[in-house]
Amino acid sequence: MEYISIKGGNRLCGKVSMSGAKNASVAILPAAITCGGVVVIDNLPQIEDVTNLAKALESLGAKCEFTNNNTLVVDATCVSKHALDANMAKSTRASYYFMGALLGRLGRAEVPQPGGCDLGVRPIDYHKRGFTTLGANCTDEHDVVHLSCDGLKGANIYLDSPSVGATINLMIASVFAEGVTMIENAAKEPHVVDTANFLNKMGAKITGAGTATIRIRGVKKLGGGEYTVIPDPIETGTYMIAAAITGGDVTVENVIPKHMESLSSKLREMGCIVEEGGDWIRVQGNENLKACEVKTAYYPGFPTDLQPQMAALLCKANGSSIITENIFEQRYRYASEFKRLGANIKIDGRMAVVKGNCRLKGATVHATDLRAGAALIVAGLAANGETLVGNVCHIDRGYERFEDKLRSLGADISRITKDE
Ligand code: EPU
Repeated sequence: MEYISIKGGNRLCGKVSMSGAKNASVAILPAAITCGGVVVIDNLPQIEDVTNLAKALESLGAKCEFTNNNTLVVDATCVSKHALDANMAKSTRASYYFMGALLGRLGRAEVPQPGGCDLGVRPIDYHKRGFTTLGANCTDEHDVVHLSCDGLKGANIYLDSPSVGATINLMIASVFAEGVTMIENAAKEPHVVDTANFLNKMGAKITGAGTATIRIRGVKKLGGGEYTVIPDPIETGTYMIAAAITGGDVTVENVIPKHMESLSSKLREMGCIVEEGGDWIRVQGNENLKACEVKTAYYPGFPTDLQPQMAALLCKANGSSIITENIFEQRYRYASEFKRLGANIKIDGRMAVVKGNCRLKGATVHATDLRAGAALIVAGLAANGETLVGNVCHIDRGYERFEDKLRSLGADISRITKDE
């Protein structure tokens, strides 16, 4: 079995460059199905979710070729299959974007329930209701969503909460819907904007992405072209927190500082020095971190995807901190693994109390999901002795060259195979 081994205690110092955003890439790849020409997508992170989606595109009839580690050429002009294989769907959460893409392009789609991180119940009712509002028939049979339509018609769609997945899926589907579609109470996350920018570059007419109201005027056809994915805000945040927890001095490059405001301001509140330029952020840690309150929220609030990594940092603060998780109520499954490292975390529903001044000590732990895995690695960087993090498959789904990048900053980290 594979483990990531971290011998804690090293201060991280130096510069590290960020990869393309996972959650933008995993939306743009399925969205490429709607394109009527060859699409070149640059700055894709080299991670399992991207590889799996390229395979899924091929299984539907698209031609895909990686011209280097981070550039994929997709020719989806010959896509004719409308049914996605169950194993493909299970390999990533983002397989649900094939619903909107295939429905818009072919007028029908069969997509099995998506996989992804187990963060409690993750319904897709807003997606399905939205497709119905656009004029599609939508049924669930044996865990497969069946969609069909005789041309979609623009409509007003109101989301009960600003779901990232529903916003993107409905935006992709309505690119070809006749007339105008309005998505109200839309998600504002950077990857929503990036997907809209990608579709617009190929000829779509989407305005308002990044605000609560997105307007899509249907077009007859999209073309092809080249697109570069934005840098990953969650990868960026993970390195910023890693710098802080080791009392280090790290400049994270190729980032969009505006996307990081909620974290930058929290780190400053805790006593770190955070400086930023056009495309970089420098974080200098502090021996005396202050405890604080963290409440996860939709963008531009504090991202739920950085909540576990932040919990690791709060273990080193002076005093008790309180986390409120407002997006996924079961996103504390990592707490029992943290306790093996000596952390003192008490969970009560959506709230976690993290006692600081904790002397973390190395232990064998297991990633319960992607960001939990990243958080265990971050905690291991500050623990005494060796931490072994198992279930590395979760981490490989979302972080490009994680160990290499941390090692370049001075971490003692490697991948090992151990007999059970
Ligand atoms: N929700 C519903 N019904 C729906 C859709 C969502 O009730 O039809 C609820 C969810 O249960 C949840 C909230 O709305 O409480 C937010 O869900 P959202 O749809 O925004 O999340 P998602 O699309 O399932 C994406 C990311 C997650 C990230 C969340 C929140 C992708 C592929 N996944 O998930 O990323 O945590 O948005 O920002 O983009 C990760 O990268 O580690 C990750 C889990």
